[in-house]
Amino acid sequence: DPALLASGEKVFKKCKACHAVGEGAKNKSGPQLNGLIGRPMGAVEGFKYSKVFVAAHGEGRIWDETALTEFLAKPKSYMKGTKMSFSGLKKEEDLAAIKAYLKSFGE
Ligand code: HEM
Repeated sequence: DPALLASGEKVFKKCKACHAVGEGAKNKSGPQLNGLIGRPMGAVEGFKYSKVFVAAHGEGRIWDETALTEFLAKPKSYMKGTKMSFSGLKKEEDLAAIKAYLKSFGE
């Protein structure tokens, strides 16, 4: 759905200061987000995650749709101790749009 992707690109403006996505995406203050759905948590090479992410990785947790929705709605409640300084996306439609947008960079 091109309209949903366009709106996801707009929502991603809130993430861009810290995250890159797409071909050649590098880590910034946050890890690159390519292939996120289905990716293990805390798995990007060369990125220094907080303890809670290192633990989630050790437990074999995966970014599925549910985990991603809950994390992006309330990062600090879903991942207690995360260093991601972002208050969260409050609107259902923004959550749907950002997920569609991120999925377009691989799952
Ligand atoms: C981690 C998404 C906004 C900084 C993450 C992760 C995701 C994510 C999925 C986990 C990645 C992994 O496990 O490899 C997003 C999205 C955003 C957003 C979609 C916008 C809606 C931000 C902003 C910042 C930021 C604005 C900086 C102010 C970080 C940092 C981490 C992180 C530092 C690592 C967390 C830790 O180690 O505790 N983000 N993020 N993010 N993000 Fe974001």
